[in-house]
Amino acid sequence: MKNFDDYKDNSRKENLKFESKVVHGAYGTDPTTGAISYPIYQTATFKHHSIEDKTGYNYARCINPTREELERLMCILEEGNRAFAVNSGMAAITLVLSLLKPGDHMILSDDVYGGSYRAVNEVLKPIGVENNSIDLTDLDLLKKTIKPNTKLILIETPTNPMMKVADIEKIVEIAHKTGIIVVVDNTFLTPYFQKPLTLGADIVLHSGTKYLGGHNDVLAGIVVVKDKEIGEKLEIQMYINGAGLGPMDSWILLRGIKTLALRMDKHNENTMKVAKWLRNHPKVEQVYYVGFEDHKDYAVTKKQTTGFGGMISFRVDSVKTVNEILNRLKLVIFAESLGGVESLITHPVSRTHTEIAEETRKALGITDTLLRLSVGIENADDIIADLDQALK
Ligand SMILES: Cc1ncc(COP(=O)(O)O)c(C=O)c1O
Repeated sequence: MKNFDDYKDNSRKENLKFESKVVHGAYGTDPTTGAISYPIYQTATFKHHSIEDKTGYNYARCINPTREELERLMCILEEGNRAFAVNSGMAAITLVLSLLKPGDHMILSDDVYGGSYRAVNEVLKPIGVENNSIDLTDLDLLKKTIKPNTKLILIETPTNPMMKVADIEKIVEIAHKTGIIVVVDNTFLTPYFQKPLTLGADIVLHSGTKYLGGHNDVLAGIVVVKDKEIGEKLEIQMYINGAGLGPMDSWILLRGIKTLALRMDKHNENTMKVAKWLRNHPKVEQVYYVGFEDHKDYAVTKKQTTGFGGMISFRVDSVKTVNEILNRLKLVIFAESLGGVESLITHPVSRTHTEIAEETRKALGITDTLLRLSVGIENADDIIADLDQALK
């Protein structure tokens, strides 16, 4: 088992700017050979020299050097003390939710990713972990919903797909009065634009499948924590559930992260252009985008993030238009997922949010005329031209 402080290791490059940190990693180069590309330690187990002479490595379910490099880097980027790289965003979410036990209560954002909703309602609820999904932008409602047995708040911000922005600092202030753990799903903005741990959150998690990987070619999840005790609990859980990310996938993520800053800037720039264009289209009734100054949570966004990200949801005038768009698009791809270099569009009602009960979906605004667009890093004019011909 590695020492807690070995993972921290954010001393060496702490003066670098974010753009340099992503390129140069934690160790960055291989400490044993100097290889510039951190090696893929494709091994299941490790040789011991003797009973006394330990290398710190034993068995790859528990520890692997490539995964460790990724975990160290994520600690540096999110400003945490211990990270876990696991094999999907859902594995990251279920790892964090393993902190709960029967009799506990948790609160989560009302329009979260469908998988998180399913995890709390179909897995945790039957074993006695209750939950309330609420609008976390309503702090009075949050105060009223907290119970004596509330142990954890899971914030997705911006939410998926309605792009509501919860105030992380204010939620932390309320939660920490009674020792509630605050978890932020930072998938949409990444630490390039938002660092929840610096805003007081206890745990940050990611679907690394999205912007961190960035190329729609790997499934991964990341958890970063500040607190040593929480880190130790999660470490044991990860040894048991065997969800550790494999060395090859860890390397793909390390490579993807090298261009995170560049990609996020381009996603940000393109998304602003596409959102403005969509807003003026006669067949588009509403655009949900956190970068609009008249977005109801714009002040919170400006306070806690340095960018708006690459996600837009928009409502069109009819289901006929939805079908026309999805059938006619040539560049933008109709597919689940988000955060990759390719622009992807999805229909939350029939794809990502099927798990959510119909009446809840309707109340949230997740209707059959809503589309969610992950704006890629192509030329923005090409994306707009494609949408234009599809919306004709
Ligand atoms: C915000 C968010 N969190 C978590 C997940 C789950 O991630 P994964 O698909 O990597 O398991 C997703 C997936 O779409 C997501 O959008």
